[in-house]
Amino acid sequence: MLAPYTQVVEELKVKLKGIRKQFEYDSRHSPIEFITGRVKPIPSILEKAENRKIPLEHIEREIQDIAGVRVVCQFVDDIYTVVEMIRARKDLTIIEEKDYISAKKESGYRSYHLIIEYPVETIDGMKKLLAEIQIRTLAMNFWATNEHSLNYKYKGSIPSEIKERLQKAAEAAFKLDEEMSMIKHEVQEAQRMFHRK
Ligand code: GTP
Ligand code: MG
Repeated sequence: MLAPYTQVVEELKVKLKGIRKQFEYDSRHSPIEFITGRVKPIPSILEKAENRKIPLEHIEREIQDIAGVRVVCQFVDDIYTVVEMIRARKDLTIIEEKDYISAKKESGYRSYHLIIEYPVETIDGMKKLLAEIQIRTLAMNFWATNEHSLNYKYKGSIPSEIKERLQKAAEAAFKLDEEMSMIKHEVQEAQRMFHRK
């Protein structure tokens, strides 16, 4: 069952990396800094199905992040550029959008999420599978990676003083994004000069 999901992740990574390369050839600022992807490990799929009382035969419809791709951007504006580019594509359909940037989660988490339906060719014909695309800045990614490690360490119940620290750190990360946005054009110009060289 998971084989076509590997295909989805690989294809999405190739396509998103293609966007980055085209911007590079053009010596234009790429809204995409890097891309990662993964197929959810089987134990995590089973755990999620159990927690949410999802019967095994409904997993493909109800667990929307079996295929997951993450797009990391330099600037907050870049996130919305990437979202627009994905919306304009004809090779996938957006099923759901969640903007955890304008409305951050209680933890402090920020990112833009898209749930898409993506057609893959399998040996049994075409299959439309769901995938989750998370789009975030480097700063948001730094925060989410650290928070994720702590959640793992504390098995989902992070002590309240650390939770508060994390909320503060999330605000600091967002402030960093805002400050960098202010000098975005300076940074981009410098990077273009460097790239031409
Ligand atoms: P799951 O959280 O995936 O079980 O489903 P959901 O329907 O609640 O979707 P949501 O959009 O809340 O989260 C989807 C994914 O976003 C998660 O699997 C994580 O990868 C990421 N995410 C959401 N909230 C947080 C958070 O507080 N911290 C971190 N580090 N990641 C988060
Ligand atoms: Mg969640």
